[in-house]
Order: sequence, then structure tokens, then C-alpha cells
Amino acid sequence: MEKRKAVDLFSEWASIGKDEGMQKGHLSSVTEMLSLVGPHLKSNFSAIDVGCGNGWVCRTLSEDKRCLKIKGIDGSEKMILKAQKIDPLGEYYHALLPSWDPKEKFDFIHSMEFLYYLEDPLDMLKIFYNNWLNNEGVFIAGVDYYLENEDSHSWPEKLNVHMTKLSIDEWKRGMEDAGFKEIEIHQVAANDDFIGTLVLFGKK
Ligand SMILES: C[S@@+](CC[C@H](N)C(=O)[O-])C[C@H]1O[C@@H](n2cnc3c(N)ncnc32)[C@H](O)[C@@H]1O
Repeated sequence: MEKRKAVDLFSEWASIGKDEGMQKGHLSSVTEMLSLVGPHLKSNFSAIDVGCGNGWVCRTLSEDKRCLKIKGIDGSEKMILKAQKIDPLGEYYHALLPSWDPKEKFDFIHSMEFLYYLEDPLDMLKIFYNNWLNNEGVFIAGVDYYLENEDSHSWPEKLNVHMTKLSIDEWKRGMEDAGFKEIEIHQVAANDDFIGTLVLFGKK
């Protein structure tokens, strides 16, 4: 059976309120990711959340007094409509990656559970580094679908959506090849049933 597009799946999820379950499920990992990145952010930073879903991380970040502006982008129109409805003053844009290019660069790029939906996530890391991030800018991304997380291996078939499975080492090398400096790899929010969200951190 031909795989469906991830953004179509997530539009369906937005229509039936499953974005809220995702938000709850991702909260502990994102909280740890934001704590990791916090000390590296300058005062008055600009930020973008890539694959922002209903935009909840943008709203969390906008509470940080240092955050000058925050944008959210997502390839699911229904997710973006939902984000705009919850937060009419927020900046949320419908954009399909990797083909969309921002008109500006950012001091901070955040992404949770987005990268592996792409056919070539490591190329996206290069695009982020070269075209999206300001010098001295900070990047952090979390992924739950990866080789060492065996419980995740059934997801592409279950959801009938393409996912790119990489090992921790392959992600690390991808960060290095993209040019990132001060790379850190973490597994956060682990518990008895979960080996943790794989977190990729790096600076330009
Ligand atoms: C698992 S959800 C995570 C949403 C949000 N980051 C969160 O933690 O709640 C993945 C998101 O990535 C978006 N996405 C998947 N593939 C995409 C693509 N090629 N371009 C833009 N967005 C995409 C989906 O529409 C979806 O909202």
C-alpha cells in the first residue's frame, strides 16, 4: 500500500484533537530540551519551531522574556489553523519542508518529533545550518523514532507513513557533517518503558 503523507495524517489528528495528546506526550522531553538550551540563548533571541503542530512550544517560548520573536511552521494546514485559533496574535505559517525557505535567519531553531518524517533528514540538518541559523545560533531537535528505540520500529507500518530510521551514531555524524559545533547528544525523559527522546544539540 502506498504510504500516506505525514502532513495528511497530522491534519487528521488536528481535526480529532489528537494534537493535544501529542502535546502532553512530548511535554517532559521538550521541557528537558528547553532546559538544556536555556543557558546558550542570548538575550533578545529570535526563534522558530519547525513542525510546530498546534504551536504549543511557540507559546511556551514566548513566555521567556529573552524571546524577541517566535515563529512556528508546519506542513499540516489544519495544525496551523488550530495554532492560529488558539493564539491569534502568534506567527504560524503553513510550509512544507524541505522545499520552503525562510526569508530570515534565527538565533534558535527548535524541533520536536519532526525530522524523521523527511526522506533525507540529514540534508535538512545542512539546510538548517547553512540557510536558517544565525552565526552563534543554537539548534535543538528531539526524535523518538530511532534505531536504538526498538519500540518505535513498528510506527511507520502502524501509521502507514514514511519515517527515516537512523542510529544515534548516524544522527551524530549528520550533525557533524552539517557543520554544527559543540555538539551534544542526549537521551531525555527516559523511564522504565522508554529509552528516552534522542536529543541533538549544536551551535553555529
Ligand atoms: C509528531 S508531530 C509533532 C508536533 C509538535 N512538534 C509537537 O511536539 O506536538 C510532527 C509534525 O511535523 C509536521 N510535518 C511532518 N512532515 C512535515 C514536512 N515535510 N514539512 C512540514 N511539516 C511536517 C506534521 O504536520 C506534524 O505537525
